[in-house]
Amino acid sequence: MSEWFETTEGIWTKVWNTLGRGVADAKHPARRPTFATVSSDGWPEARTVVLRTADQDAGTITIHTDLFSDKINSLRAHPRAALHIWDAKQDLQIRLQAEVTISSGAQTRTLWDRIPDHARQSYGVTPAPGTPIKTALDYVKDPDPATFAVLQCTVTGIDAVHLGADHRRVSFSRMGHWQGQWLSP
Ligand SMILES: Cc1cc2nc3c(=O)[nH]c(=O)nc-3n(C[C@H](O)[C@H](O)[C@H](O)COP(=O)(O)O)c2cc1C
Repeated sequence: MSEWFETTEGIWTKVWNTLGRGVADAKHPARRPTFATVSSDGWPEARTVVLRTADQDAGTITIHTDLFSDKINSLRAHPRAALHIWDAKQDLQIRLQAEVTISSGAQTRTLWDRIPDHARQSYGVTPAPGTPIKTALDYVKDPDPATFAVLQCTVTGIDAVHLGADHRRVSFSRMGHWQGQWLSP
Protein backbone atom coordinates (compact mmCIF):
# COMPACT_ATOMS: atom_id res chain seq x y z
CA MET A 1 0.00 0.00 0.00
CA SER A 2 1.36 3.39 -0.93
CA GLU A 3 1.93 6.26 1.51
CA TRP A 4 -0.26 9.37 1.24
CA PHE A 5 2.64 11.48 -0.04
CA GLU A 6 3.38 9.17 -2.97
CA THR A 7 0.42 10.31 -5.07
CA THR A 8 -0.89 13.79 -5.90
CA GLU A 9 -4.37 12.60 -4.86
CA GLY A 10 -2.99 11.47 -1.50
CA ILE A 11 -1.36 14.85 -0.91
CA TRP A 12 -4.53 16.69 -1.99
CA THR A 13 -6.58 14.74 0.55
CA LYS A 14 -3.94 15.24 3.25
CA VAL A 15 -3.84 19.01 2.62
CA TRP A 16 -7.60 19.40 3.10
CA ASN A 17 -7.69 16.99 6.05
CA THR A 18 -4.93 19.07 7.64
CA LEU A 19 -6.89 22.29 7.09
CA GLY A 20 -9.97 20.61 8.56
CA ARG A 21 -7.97 19.51 11.62
CA GLY A 22 -6.79 23.08 12.03
CA VAL A 23 -10.38 24.29 12.20
CA ALA A 24 -11.45 21.57 14.63
CA ASP A 25 -8.40 21.27 16.91
CA ALA A 26 -7.08 24.33 18.74
CA LYS A 27 -3.70 22.64 19.25
CA HIS A 28 -3.12 21.61 15.66
CA PRO A 29 -0.43 23.57 13.75
CA ALA A 30 -2.90 24.33 10.96
CA ARG A 31 -5.02 26.23 13.50
CA ARG A 32 -2.76 29.29 13.23
CA PRO A 33 -1.55 29.86 9.69
CA THR A 34 0.53 32.81 8.66
CA PHE A 35 -1.63 35.11 6.55
CA ALA A 36 0.30 37.32 4.13
CA THR A 37 -0.96 40.30 2.17
CA VAL A 38 0.51 43.17 0.17
CA SER A 39 0.16 46.67 1.62
CA SER A 40 -1.32 49.49 -0.42
CA ASP A 41 2.24 50.74 -1.04
CA GLY A 42 3.48 47.34 -2.15
CA TRP A 43 5.13 45.93 1.00
CA PRO A 44 4.73 42.26 1.90
CA GLU A 45 3.23 41.80 5.38
CA ALA A 46 2.48 38.65 7.35
CA ARG A 47 0.71 37.85 10.60
CA THR A 48 -0.69 34.88 12.51
CA VAL A 49 -4.42 34.26 12.26
CA VAL A 50 -6.86 31.55 13.33
CA LEU A 51 -8.31 29.28 10.65
CA ARG A 52 -12.10 29.34 11.12
CA THR A 53 -13.47 27.23 8.27
CA ALA A 54 -12.09 25.08 5.46
CA ASP A 55 -14.38 23.72 2.75
CA GLN A 56 -12.68 21.28 0.41
CA ASP A 57 -15.57 21.06 -2.06
CA ALA A 58 -15.81 24.82 -2.50
CA GLY A 59 -12.06 25.36 -2.11
CA THR A 60 -12.60 28.11 0.45
CA ILE A 61 -11.38 29.06 3.90
CA THR A 62 -12.39 31.86 6.27
CA ILE A 63 -10.58 34.06 8.78
CA HIS A 64 -12.13 36.45 11.32
CA THR A 65 -10.65 39.89 11.88
CA ASP A 66 -11.19 43.47 13.02
CA LEU A 67 -12.61 45.61 10.24
CA PHE A 68 -10.32 48.48 11.29
CA SER A 69 -7.08 46.49 11.26
CA ASP A 70 -4.41 47.40 8.70
CA LYS A 71 -4.83 44.16 6.76
CA ILE A 72 -8.27 45.39 5.65
CA ASN A 73 -6.69 48.43 3.94
CA SER A 74 -4.19 46.11 2.28
CA LEU A 75 -6.92 43.75 1.10
CA ARG A 76 -8.95 46.65 -0.26
CA ALA A 77 -5.93 47.65 -2.34
CA HIS A 78 -4.93 44.08 -3.25
CA PRO A 79 -7.69 41.53 -2.54
CA ARG A 80 -5.26 38.60 -2.49
CA ALA A 81 -3.54 36.66 0.26
CA ALA A 82 -1.08 33.84 0.80
CA LEU A 83 -1.31 31.44 3.74
CA HIS A 84 1.46 29.28 5.10
CA ILE A 85 1.34 26.23 7.38
CA TRP A 86 4.17 23.96 8.52
CA ASP A 87 2.97 20.70 10.04
CA ALA A 88 6.16 19.24 11.52
CA LYS A 89 4.54 15.93 12.51
CA GLN A 90 3.59 15.24 8.91
CA ASP A 91 6.69 16.91 7.43
CA LEU A 92 4.26 18.90 5.34
CA GLN A 93 4.42 22.52 4.22
CA ILE A 94 1.19 23.91 2.79
CA ARG A 95 1.03 27.21 0.94
CA LEU A 96 -2.25 28.61 -0.32
CA GLN A 97 -3.01 31.54 -2.58
CA ALA A 98 -6.46 33.04 -2.34
CA GLU A 99 -8.68 35.82 -3.56
CA VAL A 100 -10.24 37.55 -0.59
CA THR A 101 -13.66 39.12 -0.10
CA ILE A 102 -14.35 41.14 3.06
CA SER A 103 -17.76 40.60 4.70
CA SER A 104 -19.00 42.74 7.59
CA GLY A 105 -22.07 44.44 9.08
CA ALA A 106 -25.39 42.78 8.27
CA GLN A 107 -23.58 40.04 6.30
CA THR A 108 -21.80 38.79 9.43
CA ARG A 109 -24.37 39.62 12.12
CA THR A 110 -25.74 36.08 12.44
CA LEU A 111 -22.23 34.73 12.87
CA TRP A 112 -21.37 37.46 15.43
CA ASP A 113 -24.41 36.48 17.48
CA ARG A 114 -22.98 32.95 17.80
CA ILE A 115 -19.50 34.06 18.93
CA PRO A 116 -19.01 33.68 22.69
CA ASP A 117 -18.28 36.81 24.75
CA HIS A 118 -14.63 35.96 25.45
CA ALA A 119 -13.94 35.48 21.72
CA ARG A 120 -15.66 38.74 20.82
CA GLN A 121 -12.91 40.58 22.70
CA SER A 122 -10.71 40.21 19.63
CA TYR A 123 -12.94 42.44 17.51
CA GLY A 124 -13.17 46.05 18.53
CA VAL A 125 -10.57 48.14 20.33
CA THR A 126 -10.26 51.87 20.97
CA PRO A 127 -8.19 53.41 19.51
CA ALA A 128 -8.23 51.31 16.31
CA PRO A 129 -5.59 48.54 15.92
CA GLY A 130 -2.18 49.92 15.00
CA THR A 131 -2.82 53.43 16.41
CA PRO A 132 0.20 54.77 18.38
CA ILE A 133 -0.55 54.95 22.15
CA LYS A 134 1.40 56.59 25.01
CA THR A 135 1.71 53.51 27.23
CA ALA A 136 1.35 49.80 26.50
CA LEU A 137 -2.15 49.44 27.99
CA ASP A 138 -3.57 52.74 26.79
CA TYR A 139 -6.45 51.07 24.96
CA VAL A 140 -9.93 49.73 25.72
CA LYS A 141 -11.33 46.46 24.38
CA ASP A 142 -14.60 47.37 22.83
CA PRO A 143 -16.33 44.31 21.29
CA ASP A 144 -18.62 45.59 18.60
CA PRO A 145 -20.37 43.76 15.75
CA ALA A 146 -19.62 46.78 13.56
CA THR A 147 -15.89 46.02 13.77
CA PHE A 148 -16.22 42.29 13.06
CA ALA A 149 -15.18 41.15 9.60
CA VAL A 150 -14.92 37.78 7.89
CA LEU A 151 -12.28 37.26 5.23
CA GLN A 152 -13.78 34.88 2.70
CA CYS A 153 -10.82 33.33 0.93
CA THR A 154 -11.39 31.57 -2.38
CA VAL A 155 -8.34 29.39 -2.79
CA THR A 156 -6.86 29.69 -6.27
CA GLY A 157 -3.68 27.67 -5.80
CA ILE A 158 -2.05 25.21 -3.39
CA ASP A 159 1.63 24.29 -3.19
CA ALA A 160 2.49 21.38 -0.91
CA VAL A 161 5.96 20.10 0.01
CA HIS A 162 6.61 16.82 1.82
CA LEU A 163 10.06 16.42 3.34
CA GLY A 164 10.52 12.67 3.65
CA ALA A 165 13.52 10.53 2.74
CA ASP A 166 12.73 11.96 -0.69
CA HIS A 167 11.36 15.44 -1.07
CA ARG A 168 8.13 15.76 -3.00
CA ARG A 169 6.38 18.92 -4.17
CA VAL A 170 3.03 19.25 -5.90
CA SER A 171 0.91 22.16 -7.03
CA PHE A 172 -2.84 22.35 -7.54
CA SER A 173 -4.74 25.19 -9.15
CA ARG A 174 -8.39 26.06 -9.42
CA MET A 175 -7.83 26.92 -13.08
CA GLY A 176 -6.31 23.46 -13.59
CA HIS A 177 -9.38 21.88 -11.91
CA TRP A 178 -7.17 20.91 -8.94
CA GLN A 179 -5.29 18.36 -11.01
CA GLY A 180 -2.02 17.70 -9.17
CA GLN A 181 1.23 18.67 -10.88
CA TRP A 182 4.51 17.37 -9.47
CA LEU A 183 7.21 20.02 -9.24
CA SER A 184 10.92 19.79 -8.66
CA PRO A 185 11.27 20.66 -4.99
C1 LIG B 1 -1.89 33.11 18.01
C2 LIG B 1 -2.44 34.35 17.33
C3 LIG B 1 -3.67 34.28 16.69
C4 LIG B 1 -4.19 35.40 16.04
N1 LIG B 1 -5.38 35.30 15.39
C5 LIG B 1 -5.85 36.36 14.69
C6 LIG B 1 -7.03 36.26 13.90
O1 LIG B 1 -7.67 35.21 13.81
N2 LIG B 1 -7.44 37.37 13.22
C7 LIG B 1 -6.75 38.53 13.28
O2 LIG B 1 -7.18 39.49 12.62
N3 LIG B 1 -5.63 38.68 14.01
C8 LIG B 1 -5.16 37.62 14.71
N4 LIG B 1 -4.02 37.74 15.44
C9 LIG B 1 -3.35 39.03 15.50
C10 LIG B 1 -2.57 39.27 14.20
O3 LIG B 1 -1.45 38.41 14.16
C11 LIG B 1 -2.14 40.73 14.04
O4 LIG B 1 -1.30 41.11 15.11
C12 LIG B 1 -3.35 41.66 13.99
O5 LIG B 1 -4.40 41.10 13.25
C13 LIG B 1 -2.96 42.98 13.34
O6 LIG B 1 -2.48 42.74 12.06
P1 LIG B 1 -2.50 43.82 10.88
O7 LIG B 1 -2.05 45.12 11.50
O8 LIG B 1 -1.57 43.31 9.87
O9 LIG B 1 -3.92 43.93 10.39
C14 LIG B 1 -3.47 36.62 16.07
C15 LIG B 1 -2.24 36.68 16.71
C16 LIG B 1 -1.73 35.57 17.33
C17 LIG B 1 -0.39 35.67 18.01
